[in-house]
Amino acid sequence: MKALVLSGGAGTRLRPFSHSMPKQLIPIANRPVLEHVLNGVRDLGITEVGVIVGDRSAQIVAAIGDGSRLGLDVTYIHQEEPRGLAHCVVLAREFLGDDDFVMYLGDNMLPDGVTDIAQDFLDHRPAAQVVVHKVADPRSFGVAELDPEGRIERLVEKPREPRSDLALIGVYFFTPAIHEAVAAISPSARGELEITDAIQWLVTEGVQVSASVYGGYWKDTGKVDDVLECNNKLLEGLVSSVEGEVDAASELVGPVVVEKGARVVASRIVGPVIVGAGTTVEHSHVGPNTSIGDNCVLRRTYMDSSIALEGAQVTDVRGLHGSLIGRNSCVGPAAAPSSHHRLVVGDHTRIEVAA
Ligand code: G1P
Repeated sequence: MKALVLSGGAGTRLRPFSHSMPKQLIPIANRPVLEHVLNGVRDLGITEVGVIVGDRSAQIVAAIGDGSRLGLDVTYIHQEEPRGLAHCVVLAREFLGDDDFVMYLGDNMLPDGVTDIAQDFLDHRPAAQVVVHKVADPRSFGVAELDPEGRIERLVEKPREPRSDLALIGVYFFTPAIHEAVAAISPSARGELEITDAIQWLVTEGVQVSASVYGGYWKDTGKVDDVLECNNKLLEGLVSSVEGEVDAASELVGPVVVEKGARVVASRIVGPVIVGAGTTVEHSHVGPNTSIGDNCVLRRTYMDSSIALEGAQVTDVRGLHGSLIGRNSCVGPAAAPSSHHRLVVGDHTRIEVAA
């Protein structure tokens, strides 16, 4: 079995980050979402992975390379513009050949894994097997309607009035039967070739299409609040390890990772917290539920339930909570004494101050 991982797409809900980086590279517990996804693929025993990339391909190639670091053999497939998930299958036709494959959206986190569902697919080999999850509001997803025996009766993309609470959650198992389906459908109202429509085409043809309910933790990391929540969730399993330096005036409580070359000085860190390689934390309180990327600097700062990306610098800010701070951003006091606040803020940024 091969894998097709989709990592194109504009990610407009993740602005301002998606202005400068592909949403699949947002770090959760200091690893890009895409890396978590690829690890999940490897856990299925798959090594040959096609990754669909869009106009931000250079950053993805820089982060993942040929995949060997993750034990994978990655082939990049370029998509000029986002024309839908089924269009990705069309583009990957040559890579996929006549193999069965799992299609995995590069921004969906299923940390509890789908190995049991993959095994079920291999045992029964329906034309398609989708993974569904009960959600409170299914209107922004593809929705599966099942008959009493659990067979798929109908799939609808983003229905205004959903007739079931089972959302498609970004993992699909296919036999080569899907290639005929993606060739047969037309673009949807949003102008995209929907994989949901392709699978519905198979249902209408009368071939076997099944659904498996994933009961574990799932998050589509398309929005900032979901990224932060997912970070909290992944940090739950953190195991302490200190490779950097922690001075005698500092205190580490609970699971804390201090990576190589990081320095913790006169600070209190309450885990779960990861302090990335080369980062300095001085006279600060950090945590819980916080991931600090590589080469950041935190001075006299109190921060919890937050993520700082690589190279961020925060000085003299107390009470930071639920924050996502971009690469090489600076937050702190003016260089010279001043009674003004000065903001140099990128497009679609959100700043919320305590009242
Ligand atoms: C896509 C699929 C949808 C699925 C969702 C999961 O939606 O079209 O069926 O439920 O991913 O994240 P999109 O993110 O493109 O709006």
